[in-house]
Amino acid sequence: MCGIIGYVGTHQAVPILLEGLRRLEYRGYDSAGLAVAGHAGIQILRAEGKLVNLEEKAYGTPLPGVVGIGHTRWATHGAPTEANAHPQVDATGTVAVVHNGILENYAALRAELRSAGVELSSDTDTELIAHLLGREEGPLLERVVRVLPRLEGQYAVVAMSTNAPDELVAFRQGPPLVVGAGDGEMLVASDVTALLSRTRRVIFLEHGDIARLGRGGITVFDAGGHPVDRPIETLDWDAARAEKGGYRHFMLKEIHEQPDAVRNTVLAYLDAERRGINIEGFGFDPHRLEKIRRVQLVACGTSWHACLVGKFYIERLARLPVDVDYASEYRYRDPLLGHETLVIGVTQSGETADTLAAMELGRRAGAPLATVCNVRSSSAWRLAEARLLTQAGPEIGVASTKAFTTQLVALLLTALALRRVRGLDDARDGELVAQLQRLPLALEEALGVPDELYRRGVDLITASADSLYLGRGMLYPIALEGALKLKEISYLHAEGYPGGEMKHGPIALVDDGFPVVAVAPRTPAREKLLGNLREVRARGAAILAVAEAGAAGLDELADLIVPVPDVDPLLQPLVTVVPLQLLAYNVAVELGLDVDQPRNLAKSVTVE
Ligand code: G6P
Repeated sequence: MCGIIGYVGTHQAVPILLEGLRRLEYRGYDSAGLAVAGHAGIQILRAEGKLVNLEEKAYGTPLPGVVGIGHTRWATHGAPTEANAHPQVDATGTVAVVHNGILENYAALRAELRSAGVELSSDTDTELIAHLLGREEGPLLERVVRVLPRLEGQYAVVAMSTNAPDELVAFRQGPPLVVGAGDGEMLVASDVTALLSRTRRVIFLEHGDIARLGRGGITVFDAGGHPVDRPIETLDWDAARAEKGGYRHFMLKEIHEQPDAVRNTVLAYLDAERRGINIEGFGFDPHRLEKIRRVQLVACGTSWHACLVGKFYIERLARLPVDVDYASEYRYRDPLLGHETLVIGVTQSGETADTLAAMELGRRAGAPLATVCNVRSSSAWRLAEARLLTQAGPEIGVASTKAFTTQLVALLLTALALRRVRGLDDARDGELVAQLQRLPLALEEALGVPDELYRRGVDLITASADSLYLGRGMLYPIALEGALKLKEISYLHAEGYPGGEMKHGPIALVDDGFPVVAVAPRTPAREKLLGNLREVRARGAAILAVAEAGAAGLDELADLIVPVPDVDPLLQPLVTVVPLQLLAYNVAVELGLDVDQPRNLAKSVTVE
């Protein structure tokens, strides 16, 4: 979703803003802009489409100044035109704002400003904030304090004014904002990836916070304008981890980072001897956990697929019933919740609006609340009482890969922890822990498949506008995830289905050359899946199977087998998803599409 960057310092602002925007591109956007406070007042540049359009304008129109704000816009109110791009200014051109979020009282504010004679120049809700601030008097901070009660909805805003051209005021209610304290320069951004090249000392603003940034420092206030204490944290992510490192795309780099990401996540939660898990590392209160009778997993997108696998892990190992819900549905369905339900929000970014709202429901009901999250200090991180950090590092490709596999590991470790708390652990746990430590090697092996196989896979998939991905048991979520990866980056329609359900509808789609992707490693249910494959084969389907090499019965059925190592059944979801990620990647590259920033998608959906 929209990306925000702000800079106050001693260097020229434009190149710093453009670099910040470049690093925010991955969030998804369709127009971009920046504003700089200089001798000529506030000057603005905006452009439709990709950042390169804004950069071209910036080269042709020097905007001197050492204070500025920038924005990548993912359209909500109004089309992605230049007029609707941010920054938006007030009627006098003395206040400029950038904004991420949605004002719910947009219509009422618009009508009110119009009847007061204000001419609106865009369709955005953001422009209304600029006018409201412009119509107040006094220092920008005081204006913000007066305007805040008038704004309903979710927003993260950075404002600048010609009255105090050396400062920025940032405020948030919902979408995240992080401020960075550099050397004689202060920055603010939607997420840390935009700040890392200039500072690793940051403050994550809380819901309702207002921050004033000047060259000399940052002061944080509550919504009433009273100073509040917010600690500066030093991040351990470095800028290089958010670079492509020689790979053609971030997604490919992140696919190949999975062995390390998984290794780091496993090791973070093992005891000193690495023979069992370290329950204390999870931050759960054991007394609260003993009372748990069920588990509720909430998430969106790929993280929701991880939860579907997590259900198998927790039910099988900890013998607790698990419900999995889309956070966007859960938050509105008046769920049954109480002290006996452990609620776990699973989220790469920790900022997905629906997941946060679902977690908040749990908190209000007094449920023990945990998160599996990839971003320390994110909103989900701060909301939860127990946190499992997936050690994937920054994930830039919009299509999630290494975050997914580390989420699976984190949920497996959670299942082992719950098993221990419930006194169900036995000698087999040690064997599973040993297998988990060997998992990075299995992932390396899955990554080592020759490109030639993927070239044949690409031909098979691109022969049709649709395809069907089949799996059973805990590999059904992997079929869903494989299909989602393909849709996200290749714009080809794909559907994931449990093999046993195929005869209840999808088989009607199958005709000559229709691609069916089978997630088919050795499991007790494989014979059943082979039965499904025989049925689609008889109707002309082209079959691509993911299975261990030499899988009996598959050779004669499948057009192509992408081999994966033979691992413990609980680890099969991890090794089988890798070829599906690479298949989607190769299809998108072959079709010449923007792998890392697919159209219309946002990396982190921070509004409903
Ligand atoms: C967006 C992203 C997906 C991601 C989902 C949930 O749709 O494009 O890749 O799975 O949000 O994000 P989260 O950060 O909560 O895991």
